[in-house]
Amino acid sequence: MRDPSIRRSVALFRAFMREQTDPEYCYGLLARDAAEQVEKYVPLQGSTVVDVGGGGGHFTEEFRRRGAHSYLFEPDPRELHAGGRTPPGAVLADGYLLPLAEGAADVCFSSNVLEHVSDPRTFLSEMVRVTRPGGLIYVSFTNWYSPWGGHETAPWHYLGAERARARYQRRTGRPAKHTLGENLFAVHIGPTLRHVRSRDDVRIVTARSRYWPFLAGAVTRVPGVREFATWNLLLILRRCPT
Ligand SMILES: C[S@@+](CC[C@H](N)C(=O)[O-])C[C@H]1O[C@@H](n2cnc3c(N)ncnc32)[C@H](O)[C@@H]1O
Repeated sequence: MRDPSIRRSVALFRAFMREQTDPEYCYGLLARDAAEQVEKYVPLQGSTVVDVGGGGGHFTEEFRRRGAHSYLFEPDPRELHAGGRTPPGAVLADGYLLPLAEGAADVCFSSNVLEHVSDPRTFLSEMVRVTRPGGLIYVSFTNWYSPWGGHETAPWHYLGAERARARYQRRTGRPAKHTLGENLFAVHIGPTLRHVRSRDDVRIVTARSRYWPFLAGAVTRVPGVREFATWNLLLILRRCPT
C-alpha cells in the first residue's frame, strides 16, 4: 500500500476496528506496514533489527520474514505470550536497560511503547545507544491529546483520565487496562520533537503522523494543532557517526 494514501489509512483503520476480534489480522497488517516504512530507508534483508517492547512479536516475525535478524525485547511476560506464539529467542528485558552492546543494531524499532514508559528520554537514549552509528531508529507513539490518547478509554480522556477510567468500568464491567501515571503517560508532540532536535547523537530523518493519508509531515509542524491532529507520531532517526 502506498504511504501515505487514503487506501492505506482506510485499511489500517478497518484493521484497528477488528483489533479485539481479530488481533492477528490487525497486528499482521500493522507489522507489514511498519516493515515497509523501515524498508524505505534501509533494506531489512541481512540487517540486525531490535524490537523494543515488541509485545507478542508480530513485528519481529515480519522483520524475520523479510530476511532480517530480528530480536524481540519485552518486559511483560503476559504481553509476550498473549498471542500464544512467542517468537523463538524472545528476551524478557526492559527497554531502559537492554542486554545489548553499544551499536549492536542496524535498526532499533519501537512501536507504540513510548507512551507506556515514565521516562521516555531515557528509553530513547537506550535505543540510540544500541543502534550503530549511521543506523536507523524507528519510534512511534500515541500522544496524550490524540483522539486515541486515552487508549481504551478514549475519547473520554479529554474530560480527565480518572473520569474516563470510571466510565469505562461502568460501561464494560471491567477495569481499563491502562492507568495514567502507572502504565500510560501523557507524552506530547512538541516537547518530544524539541528534545529530539536538541540531541547531537541523532538526526531526524522524518517526523510525521504515522497513519494520516495526507499532510502527514505538515501536521506535526503546527504547534497546538499537532497535539490533536497527529494521532500518532512516527519519528525515524539516524544515529550520528561518533
Ligand atoms: C501497546 S503495546 C505495543 C506492542 C507492540 N510494540 C505493538 O506496536 O503492537 C506496549 C508495549 O510496551 C511494553 N513496555 C512497557 N514498558 C516498557 C519498557 N520499559 N521497556 C520495553 N517495553 C515496555 C509493554 O509491555 C507492551 O508490550
